[in-house]
Amino acid sequence: METVSSVELHRRITLIRGDGIGPEITAAVQEILDAASVPIEWDEQPAGLECARLYGTPLPPQTLQSILRNRVALKGPTTTPIGTGHKSINVTIRKILDLFANVRPARSLPGVRTRFDNVDLIVLRENIEDTYGGIEYWQTPDVVQQLRIITRPGSDIFLRFAFELARSQGRRRLTCVHKANIHKMSDGLFRERFYAIAADYPELQADDILVDNLCMQLVVRPESFDVLVLPNLFGDLVSDLCAGLVGGLGVAPGGNVGHGRAVFEAVHGSAPDIAGRGIANPTALLLSATQMLRFLGLHRHAERIEEALRLTLASGLRTRDLGGNASTREFARAIISNLRPLDFTEYPHPLSASEPTPQPMSSLPEVAWQLYGMDLFVRSPAGVPKLPERIGKLRLQMISNRGTKVYPGPTPPIVLVDWYRCRYLAEEPLSETELLEALSTLTADGVVWMHVEKLHHVNGTALYSRAQGEE
Ligand code: NAI
Repeated sequence: METVSSVELHRRITLIRGDGIGPEITAAVQEILDAASVPIEWDEQPAGLECARLYGTPLPPQTLQSILRNRVALKGPTTTPIGTGHKSINVTIRKILDLFANVRPARSLPGVRTRFDNVDLIVLRENIEDTYGGIEYWQTPDVVQQLRIITRPGSDIFLRFAFELARSQGRRRLTCVHKANIHKMSDGLFRERFYAIAADYPELQADDILVDNLCMQLVVRPESFDVLVLPNLFGDLVSDLCAGLVGGLGVAPGGNVGHGRAVFEAVHGSAPDIAGRGIANPTALLLSATQMLRFLGLHRHAERIEEALRLTLASGLRTRDLGGNASTREFARAIISNLRPLDFTEYPHPLSASEPTPQPMSSLPEVAWQLYGMDLFVRSPAGVPKLPERIGKLRLQMISNRGTKVYPGPTPPIVLVDWYRCRYLAEEPLSETELLEALSTLTADGVVWMHVEKLHHVNGTALYSRAQGEE
């Protein structure tokens, strides 16, 4: 007969108390989970500003090792110094562990006064790509460029996770949120992958909406959405909007998930203004913890604790941020007293034998990727640059300024900055050497260029955008 070891019955969870109100609210959540007999053990590790003072680093290697070993952490807020000092611990953890999805449930709670009382959303935000690579350059003294990166493998990994999560939580509908009418290629790819992966989940309804329309709909009819799936930047904004719909920072939970690993934490920060006074609201961290329990497969434990929380709030007991006068401890004790008797046994998902290692991946077979030209970004403070019409196989097709065509044809009455996109295209495929020769010719002519984008075609389809004003 197969036996189950006690290690499998009790999952070890890395616990980071953090700074400010962190120790107060983690203590409250720990007390509630322990009183609820949830089958987990805590592995407490340091991180944050206090940790930096004590150990000389805000995120010691032993803390990262602990998360890698346990795969799951519950984290209190940590203070990030502004302007100077260490980088955000959250961003470091997210990047090092490749936690590619941010999961933010937004559900109305009884007794928490808001404009809506029937919101039950999950906001799923891609966590790695988009503008968050932080790839920015000064191109000229007047122009900064930031790269927005959306990849097929990154989108696929995230979107499959989104559908799996929706299925495991009994959700019915996923809505892809984007701006593909303007970001035709980047958001277009995200949207295309959404529908490609949706085909594997026929029981789930899949649709999409423009992000601007979604924002309007959310503040009018938030109950009409179920699971929202967004690229990083839109997800950042919309998840805060949704937190506001259900009562704000004190009740907004979150989790960062990826490759079988996850770090759960409240959306709010370390609240230095109320730290040490015993009045912080532990609800957001508690809901982050119940999200963690669901991740571990402990759905009934999560439901039992959330039910006790709802009963407590419905009784009128509230912390100060929600208009009450209960202390953190009084509130936690009330939740414990509202726990219904434990009448079930539930074990966490077993750990798989070894850590899943992400593989380098491309989801497409090699395609005939043919070089046809270049967009040369030229600095020209004196106006539209004078460039040769022809260089070898290449012909000057178009010059644009901030995305609007200024050549050929009359220059539209727009403000011109000193940074021009100059498109050279060939009628047949070009070699790398031919492209380099063209660049040498232009450089010898005194053209000052900032960077070059190669232009490719696949099966006759151009893989680059056009400028406004181009026919
Ligand atoms: P904050 O979220 O800490 O506080 C904003 C306001 O909300 C304050 O008035 C605070 O008292 C209140 N508040 C927040 N959580 C509360 C709770 N649980 N109960 C009652 N009231 C609560 O944001 P702030 O002041 O901008 O940031 C403070 C520090 O936290 C900064 O160093 C920031 O970098 C850090 N931070 C850390 C995060 C994390 O570790 N996940 C997330 C956000 C900020």
